[in-house]
Amino acid sequence: MKDRMTWEETIKFIRTQPEFDYLVDKAYFEENLPLNVERFTKSEEFIETLKILKQYQPFAKTILDIGSGNGISAVALALEGYHVVSIEPDPSETIGAGAIRKLKHHYNLTNLEIYEAFAEELQLQSESFDIVYTRQCMHHAYDLDKFVAEASRVTKKRGLFITIRDHVIFNQKDKEWFLENHPLQKFYGGENAFQTVEYRTAMEKAGLKVEKEIKYYESVINYFPVSKEEILNNFQIRRSKAISNFKNKFGILSRLTFFQYLYLKRKGLNESKKLNENEIPGRMYSYITIKT
Ligand SMILES: C[S@@+](CC[C@H](N)C(=O)[O-])C[C@H]1O[C@@H](n2cnc3c(N)ncnc32)[C@H](O)[C@@H]1O
Repeated sequence: MKDRMTWEETIKFIRTQPEFDYLVDKAYFEENLPLNVERFTKSEEFIETLKILKQYQPFAKTILDIGSGNGISAVALALEGYHVVSIEPDPSETIGAGAIRKLKHHYNLTNLEIYEAFAEELQLQSESFDIVYTRQCMHHAYDLDKFVAEASRVTKKRGLFITIRDHVIFNQKDKEWFLENHPLQKFYGGENAFQTVEYRTAMEKAGLKVEKEIKYYESVINYFPVSKEEILNNFQIRRSKAISNFKNKFGILSRLTFFQYLYLKRKGLNESKKLNENEIPGRMYSYITIKT
């Protein structure tokens, strides 16, 4: 018996396990493909992404979506009126090019082309897209420099290469922590992440100017589906619980504010740690880059 599942087997398996219901829902892994598209289209993440596309490329007509998975973004962008080319190496009808073809048919989209290919081996003309978009995919590159170089090659001069929600690690230990904590890694083993310097260097080498590195808490694009209110509320709940434990444990001593400060600091619950991306395994970043 093989000890790993494929990505498609993993998704089919977690759909049968109630403890993964939240993930299936929030990651758009439902069997009902149009439902995933409809929910993604209305998401705060996609609405915010569209604002960036319009801000940086107001007259864009053509978009390449690299690593489209089950097609949520490729279809959402086509429904927005862009001419979309979707690249996805996985042929499956669950989570790959087959699923995107089904959606193309469902929505009767004449402005969506689908190719089974890896980003590192694009068979597309140079400088042919106003926008190259890739969501939760660049960190899967088998050769990051080549992935980014190819994306840049097919982007028009002064066009936009935008990468959405890529895992970032700070060092090797942080990477191990991320992999241990990823909910699906134990099934399929295909997760990966890079340091920001690796993403940025690949982009600069490929002739892309990094306009913005959007850190985890800097945009809903990264932390969606959680809202900032929920993040802050959860923090306050944890902090209040810690303060009440502290009072029970130390009685009169707990009135010493510096003592309380040290206690909360040790627990990572000082006000300054409210939005601490170090506590998020493989926190996601997005990049806005322009082809020079
Ligand atoms: C986490 S999924 C994201 C799918 C989709 N973009 C989304 O946001 O739902 C990563 C996708 O990247 C694809 N992929 C992995 N390595 C790739 C590569 N080197 N080039 C292009 N796509 C790749 C996988 O097949 C998978 O569909």
